[in-house]
Amino acid sequence: MPTSHAPHAASRAERPPEPRIRIEAPSAKDGADLWRLARDAGELDLNSPYSYLLWCRDFSGTSVVARAGGQAVGFVTGYRRPDSAETLFVWQVAVDPAYRGQRIGVRMLMGIGDAAKRLGCRYVEATVTPGNDASARMFASFARAHGAPLARTEGFESTLFPDNHQPEDLIRIGPL
Ligand SMILES: CC(C)(COP(=O)(O)OP(=O)(O)OC[C@H]1O[C@@H](n2cnc3c(N)ncnc32)[C@H](O)[C@@H]1OP(=O)(O)O)[C@@H](O)C(=O)NCCC(=O)NCCS
Repeated sequence: MPTSHAPHAASRAERPPEPRIRIEAPSAKDGADLWRLARDAGELDLNSPYSYLLWCRDFSGTSVVARAGGQAVGFVTGYRRPDSAETLFVWQVAVDPAYRGQRIGVRMLMGIGDAAKRLGCRYVEATVTPGNDASARMFASFARAHGAPLARTEGFESTLFPDNHQPEDLIRIGPL
């Protein structure tokens, strides 16, 4: 009869402690890392390297990078909507596949929530593709943490895209 083991508990105990995660505003130096994280995320439209560099410089106040021991392991890019000053729009979120499931996504959104409040924004918006449960749950978790309502409506229908892009549902969270 094989001895019974508790493999999960044992491997957790043997694993070295996870490096501390720091959530910070990005700078232009992070642009290349954000591009790599977006490329490897699996679910994201990959934009040009130059666009991430520019984003890190010009929208640093509404974006965050997560670092583990100095290495970029996640990011959120966002901006304040020019026609809706009380709304911070989250453009892309990515966490390195090796670091998923550690609440880094939610913690980065909390950083974005802080930025939103600093700017006087009461709402956070994003779009999600219908099958992206991880993303939907991450935003739901953020809304719960703020005790804020979350509304999901039609965002961008697939015919608006030039390729075979899925539709994007709009998520609006707030008032924060
Ligand atoms: C979406 C993403 C950023 C989540 O990052 P993460 O750090 O792993 O997420 P968290 O650990 O903070 O988990 C947040 C919530 O999502 C849930 N979740 C995480 N991964 C999940 C998965 N694969 N399936 C279902 N739920 C999942 C968690 O259980 C948690 O929910 P809870 O608070 O109700 O327990 C990450 O999966 C990713 O980079 N995906 C690819 C890119 C992407 O889809 N980006 C979003 C669209 S812009």
